[in-house]
Amino acid sequence: MLNAAVKSRSLPHVIVVGNEKGGSGKTTIAIHIADALMKRGQRLATIDLDSRQRTLTHYIENRRASARRCHVDLELPTHLAIARAESARVDDNEATEFADFDQAIAAIEHRHDFVVIDTPPHDSYLMRLAHSITDTLITPLNDSFLDLDVLAKVDPVTFAVTGISHYAELVREMRRHRRSVDGELPDWVVVRNRISPSGSSTEPVLCDCLHELALGVGFRVAAGFHERPVYRDFFPRGLTALDPLCDIVPGVDPDPSHSMARREVEALLQILKLPIDARGQRRAAARAEWFASHNRPLDNDILTELPR
Ligand SMILES: Nc1ncnc2c1ncn2[C@@H]1O[C@H](COP(=O)(O)OP(=O)(O)OP(=O)(O)O)[C@@H](O)[C@H]1O
Ligand SMILES: [Mg+2]
Repeated sequence: MLNAAVKSRSLPHVIVVGNEKGGSGKTTIAIHIADALMKRGQRLATIDLDSRQRTLTHYIENRRASARRCHVDLELPTHLAIARAESARVDDNEATEFADFDQAIAAIEHRHDFVVIDTPPHDSYLMRLAHSITDTLITPLNDSFLDLDVLAKVDPVTFAVTGISHYAELVREMRRHRRSVDGELPDWVVVRNRISPSGSSTEPVLCDCLHELALGVGFRVAAGFHERPVYRDFFPRGLTALDPLCDIVPGVDPDPSHSMARREVEALLQILKLPIDARGQRRAAARAEWFASHNRPLDNDILTELPR
């Protein structure tokens, strides 16, 4: 049985990115939120629970390799990956996974402001464990009725919401349980993803369904990310839309879509209303200043002032 034993210690703010629908943008959003927080000087840890694909782990490995190869200062989190236990007994597996999860949290607590947890696209004990301790749950949702199906059933004629689907039910159950354990109600934000830049005929109807569902189930809706190459092209280099791409990647020209993507990430961060630590922000500003001045010649070159 899941309980709040892990959560009862003084944890960093936990952000879980979850949706049972595969390919909805969980890993993409996880890395962008993580990078945005690190760029604000927050001490960040990431945990990959998708031990089959390990996409977040690969993203961070690619980022580390790029930083080394290009001699650039790319922010990196403390990263942990937890494997799914695969013995023949379900109770043994759950005990192993609980112990691994607890150990991972113990390794990062006290030294981090945030932990971003990427989850697999299916129901599992580890995925439920993460959902049960989250402070902020982010659910990316591709802009289509097919993707909405994991959250709600929709009438084919009127498009009214007629029922709650399995993932929304799972989250509701997790939140109810959490409230009974420690009185917390995790914030749940559904983030629209891969929105068509030119709009689509179904978009307004889909939006209405989502807002109707939000009222019934208790989540907030974020406008999220449009479909943009910048969100998918830089995985092999481990870069995000927030990195100074033109400085790091030869041949990449300034593209208005990059700055629009940056604004989307910043807007999402605003909507999430995370407890961003002001000391961290000052640390980030000092660090940016230091790196900016690093390659500049000193104003008063002390060597020229030394007596010959
Ligand atoms: N806003 C976006 N614009 C363009 N491409 C995107 C966007 N968001 C995600 N993608 C692409 O969509 C695909 C799925 O994204 P991602 O891997 O982040 O989803 P996921 O939910 O983590 O998938 P899984 O369920 O398999 O773990 C990837 O090819 C990714 O590069
Ligand atoms: Mg993923």
